[in-house]
Parts: sequence; C-alpha cells; structure tokens
Amino acid sequence: MAKSFNDLHHIVTKRRIIGLWRLLSGYRLFYLVASLCLGIGTLARTGTYLWLREFIDEILFSSPSRQQLALAGLGFVGLAAIQGLFTFVSGALSARTAENVARNLRNYLFDHIQRLTFTYHDQMQTGELISRASSDIDALRQFFSDQVVNAGQILLLFIINFMAIATIDLGLAIRSVIVVPLVLLTSIWFFRRITKAYEAYQEQEAVLSTALQENLAGVRVVKAFAQQTYEREKFERENWEKFVRGRRLLTMHSFFWPTTDIIAGAQLVAGLYMAARMTINGTITIGSYLAYAGLITWIIWPMRNLGRLIVQMSMGLVSFGRVLEVIKQNREPIAQGIFPHEKELDGRVVFDRIGFSYADGGQVLKEISFSVTPGEVVAVLGPTGSGKTTLVNLLPRFYNYTSGSLKLDGLELNQFAPEYLRRQIGIVEQEPFLFSRTIRENITLGVDRNVEDEEVEQASKAAAIYDTIVAFPNGFDTLVGEKGVTLSGGQKQRVAIARTLLKDPCLLILDDSTSSIDTLTEVEIRGALEILMQGRTTFIIAHRIQSVMNADKILVLDQGTIAQIGSHDELILQDGVYKRIHEMQTRIEDALVQELTDV
Ligand SMILES: Nc1ncnc2c1ncn2[C@@H]1O[C@H](COP(=O)(O)OP(=O)(O)OP(=O)(O)O)[C@@H](O)[C@H]1O
Ligand SMILES: [Mg+2]
Repeated sequence: MAKSFNDLHHIVTKRRIIGLWRLLSGYRLFYLVASLCLGIGTLARTGTYLWLREFIDEILFSSPSRQQLALAGLGFVGLAAIQGLFTFVSGALSARTAENVARNLRNYLFDHIQRLTFTYHDQMQTGELISRASSDIDALRQFFSDQVVNAGQILLLFIINFMAIATIDLGLAIRSVIVVPLVLLTSIWFFRRITKAYEAYQEQEAVLSTALQENLAGVRVVKAFAQQTYEREKFERENWEKFVRGRRLLTMHSFFWPTTDIIAGAQLVAGLYMAARMTINGTITIGSYLAYAGLITWIIWPMRNLGRLIVQMSMGLVSFGRVLEVIKQNREPIAQGIFPHEKELDGRVVFDRIGFSYADGGQVLKEISFSVTPGEVVAVLGPTGSGKTTLVNLLPRFYNYTSGSLKLDGLELNQFAPEYLRRQIGIVEQEPFLFSRTIRENITLGVDRNVEDEEVEQASKAAAIYDTIVAFPNGFDTLVGEKGVTLSGGQKQRVAIARTLLKDPCLLILDDSTSSIDTLTEVEIRGALEILMQGRTTFIIAHRIQSVMNADKILVLDQGTIAQIGSHDELILQDGVYKRIHEMQTRIEDALVQELTDV
C-alpha cells in the first residue's frame, strides 16, 4: 500500500506561502526535475528562433548545398522534438506530484477532522467541512499541478528569451520589457480584489454544500412536512447568491484580461516596430529580425500569463487558508493522561458540585453532587432538556466539566486519557448510529480482539435482536442501509445494545435505550440488561418509572440540578416530582389494563 499520510501539522504558519512550501516537503525533488525538464524545453524553443537566425543569415544567403539544408531542417525537427518531449515530461511529473500532494492532504484532513473535539463539531457545519475536504483541496491540487509549473515556465521563458534577445541587441531587449512593472502593478492590484471576491465565493459554496447535505440527511423530515417547495426556494436563494458572487468574480476577470492584454499587445507592436527600424537602419540583420519576431512573442506570453497566474494563485491561496483553518484546530488529546493498560475500572464515581456549560452559552449542569459505589445501578430521570445526556457524556470525557470535581476510582476524571475511558465505558446512545456495513460489522465495532460468530450471536440474543437478524436472507451479513434506514428505530437500538454487550465494558451507560421498544421486547431486554448490569456500575436514563424502579439510586434532574435523589421506596414517600410521575404513569397503565380487560 502507498504511504498513507504524514503529519502535516507543521504546514500551519502565518504566511501561507511558507505553509505551501512545507506542504511540498518530500515532493520538492520531483518539482526540481520538472523544472529542469521545463528549462530544457524552453531552451529548445528559444534555440529554434536562434537557429532560424543562423539559418537565414549564415546558410540561406550563402547558396547552401542540399546536405546543409537537410542538416538545418534536422536541427529544427530535433529542437522541436526536445521541446515537446521535455515540456510533456515536466507537465506529467508535476500533475502526478500534485495528485500525490492532494491525496496526502485529503487523508490527513479526514483523519484530523475525526480527531477534533465534540465542541468543534458542535460549532462547525458538516457542509463546511465537506467543501473544504473536497472543493478546496481540489483547488489546491490544481494550484500544484498547473500554477506552480506555470510560475516556473513564466519565469524561465521570460529570462531565457530576454537573454536571447540580448544576444541580438541589449538595448532592444531592455526596451522590449519596459512595461513589465506596469503589468506587475496591475496584477497585484487585481490580486487583492480577486482574492476577496474568491473568498466570498468559496464561503457561499460552503453554504450551498451545507444546504445540500442537510437536505439529504433530513430528507424524511422534508417529505413528512411537505417542505419541498420551501426547501427549494431556500436553496434557490443561496444558489442565486453564489451566482451573484461568481458573476462578480467573472466581471473582475473580464476587466483584468483586456487590461493586461492591451498593455502586452502595445509592447508587442512597439517591439516589432523598433526592431523593424533597426533592421532598415542595418543595426540588425534580417535573420535577427525574424528571430526577434519569434522571441518577443515568448516574452509577451509570460507577461500576459503572469497576471492570469497571479489571479489563479490567489484562489489556491484562499483554498489553502480554508484548509488551514481546520488543520490548525487542536485535536482532542485522547491518549493524554492516565492509561492503565492492565487495570480495569471498579466503577466508583463521585460527583462533587459539578457544573457544566456548552461552549455556546448557559449553564446546563449546576452543583451536581452524588456518589456511586461499584456495581450500583443509577437511574437518571427528568424532563426533556434537563441535562441527562449531558451528565452521562461527562464520564467518557466527550466534554470536560467546567467546575467541581468528578472522581472515578478515586482519581480525578480529567486525569484519565479519554481513549482509556472510552474503552472501559460502554454506551448505548440515545440515537444510535449504524454504519452502512454489515450487521456483524456493526455489532463487532470497536472490539479489538477476534470475535467468534457464537459471541456475536449470544450478544444479539441477549439484546433480543437475534430472531430479527436471522430472518433476513443474509443474516448477520445483511448490509445496513445509509444510516440504517432498513432497520426500524427499535431494531437499531437493539443492535446498539448488542454491540455494547460485546464490548464487555466496566461501566455502562444506557441512554433512553428502551424508549423505542415495545413493552414485550422491553421485558425481554430488561432481563438481558439485568444480567449485563450485574457487577458493573451502570447509568440508565429512562422515562418510564418501571425501567428505573429496581435501580439502587434514582436521580431526578430538573433544569440541570438534582431535584431528588434516593431509591424508589424512598422517593415514593417524598412529596415531589418522582411521586407525581409515578402516580401519573400508574394511572395511565391502570386505565390501559382496564380497557384491555373490558374488551
Ligand atoms: N452539543 C450541545 N451544544 C450546546 N447545547 C447543548 C448541546 N447538547 C445539549 N445542549 C443543551 O443542553 C441542555 C440539556 O440537554 P440534554 O441533551 O442533556 O437533555 P436531556 O435531559 O438528555 O433531554 P432528553 O430527555 O430530551 O434527551 C438542553 O437545553 C440543550 O439545549
Ligand atoms: Mg438525552
């Protein structure tokens, strides 16, 4: 396999040009060879015109023999062949190198993105990241395949042809490049403006890709609420904005090209006129004039293209800046901290006046204090938005608490390496995500060792999903569709339970894991979960009193604080939220039972 990716963090610098140069480390030799080839190609082209001069002045007017003529012709063919071959090699080499640089950068960016913190992902839109990983990297690829070589080509053509003209007449050579400063100034002036316009254009590109990505991810909601027209209009508005910004960019281009063309064109005419006068005056020969006519076009060409290059480079730089913005984000230091390779956790947890707020605002958890002895089952109950998920997400250090102290096995939680915690803690998430892989692969996800089929079957039996899976024609090899749409919500949750069972964690977190499961299955699963919970500290978030009644400790959360804490028997006696929920749910269930018996 090809080398996957290097650490590219060192490309983060204040000056983008330096960053780009660093990005090329390991590939610079290729560019050197490409430049050399380009140099040879350019020399051959210039050589053609100088050979033309020789041919006219020395050979043509001295009644040459057929042999001499053939030899001269061979010279032209040879030079053309050299020029073509080396220019081709140079182009191919740089294109290949550019593909490699882009591949490397893409790999690195992908890996980097998956290592950023939850907080970063909360704030960054997926579409933004997608557009940086795709269209911006592509702009950079072009930068490296075309523009870098173009820059070399322009420089070489200019210098070599200038020197060639200088061999004819130095004064003429200098007068042939007199407008260069003007071209440079115009280019820089446009460069600034076009960079800004292109930045705005790329930003809008990201808005569009976010819109598209969200619409695809939420296609069910769009259809369910018959929002197609609204969404289309919204997309059209954003797309129109992109068009407007693109048009602005194009308008600038369309002012820029004629400007440099006029300047360069004037230079060409002036040059040819001056050289013609010199020929008439006898200062230079006819052969020299013809050679000059060819050479000057290859001085004008780089001049015209210098502007184009500068503008295109600005796009590469903008895209590079956008990629850098992501790369300069710090990764989550998942391996930093205590990482006991032998020891398994006891699961003793002590929350002491824990407070937490998300990056974007108000306090979500306030003064949370309670403790859990190893093996205890803690149920967390509370209205939606009260902070239940936030509370349990602190344990695997998805987020770091902002105040107070949280001890695990007697040690401050944030001293543990997140990776260690995540290996020890099993979570069945509120909205489990399944990959578009086989069911087996989804169940064995994150289990490092080799897993026997039997174990997978046992885990799925315990999660009450075995019968469903074997009923599929492909059994455990059945592919789960995008985001697992071919499975129902409850089935997905049970697959998630199975995969957590297989992980055999020391500490277990079940977030609402039975909410989308019918009563009958719940009874089945609860049996399995009870076996699973034995000897492990477990946090279980649930809405139904029945799911939490047997817990050792019940935490009732309300707006981020603990409203009540105790066992079922204790809480039922207190006048509080728990008692009210209990009464309400019992009443509903009694009514249900009544109705069923009436039938
Ligand atoms: N990633 C996040 N960034 C910012 N705020 C968040 C984030 N996740 C949750 N919140 C906010 O924190 C509060 C608590 O959310 P949390 O998800 O913990 O509630 P919950 O008790 O699990 O609710 P539910 O029963 O609906 O699952 C809410 O007000 C929510 O808006
Ligand atoms: Mg929740």
